[in-house]
Amino acid sequence: MAGDASGIERVRIQGPRLVLRPIGADEIEAEWQEMVNAEPMARGGPVAEADFKARLARSGQMHDGWLDLSIALDGTPIGRIQTFVPPERKTPPGVFTVGIGLRQAQRGRGHGREAMTLFTNWLFSDAAASVVQAPTDPENIAMRTVFERIGWRHTETYEEFGRTWVNYSITRPQWEELRSQG
Ligand SMILES: CC(C)(COP(=O)(O)OP(=O)(O)OC[C@H]1O[C@@H](n2cnc3c(N)ncnc32)[C@H](O)[C@@H]1OP(=O)(O)O)[C@@H](O)C(=O)NCCC(=O)NCCS
Repeated sequence: MAGDASGIERVRIQGPRLVLRPIGADEIEAEWQEMVNAEPMARGGPVAEADFKARLARSGQMHDGWLDLSIALDGTPIGRIQTFVPPERKTPPGVFTVGIGLRQAQRGRGHGREAMTLFTNWLFSDAAASVVQAPTDPENIAMRTVFERIGWRHTETYEEFGRTWVNYSITRPQWEELRSQG
């Protein structure tokens, strides 16, 4: 955590190459444009612009299960990672649902894997997670490969928003076992 001018403690997670940190007020519009221009496979359900921007204004603070962070490389935002609460799939405390999106030019360089590892570790070590999970499109091989490389497991396939989704997750005991293996 790190304080800022507002005095509010905001989440900041430092990795070997990446930093997951709050989204600046001057970065919100660019994040909205990335969201609306995302390819259908990378999108979640429908999101209203005002809700999205209000959410990002609270970036860096966990708020009712929602936390948005910028993925930054050498000080430049290259994507966004978040926990969110799926509208149709309310989750109990300690169960976090994660989403991630990298700018097109930054994909396939290991950043997704690093960001997901950092965020998963932080959710278990600092946010009392019992389960960390994420849905993706069955055809999203990049995302599915990241999940498999970092020790998440495919748990469920389901229909929502008129599409098929695959759910991946990792539980606290599974995460602890991975950590104990180094
Ligand atoms: C999905 C996403 C976050 C993955 O991050 P990434 O940085 O591109 O992936 P990485 O470079 O960390 O790759 C991790 C592994 O997946 C593999 N991979 C990456 N892209 C791949 C692709 N298109 N096809 C097959 N394998 C792929 C890599 O080879 C790597 O495997 P390795 O560990 O054996 O080397 C990123 O591609 C992205 O933002 N995509 C668009 C948004 C999106 O789909 N978000 C998820 C919505 S649920």
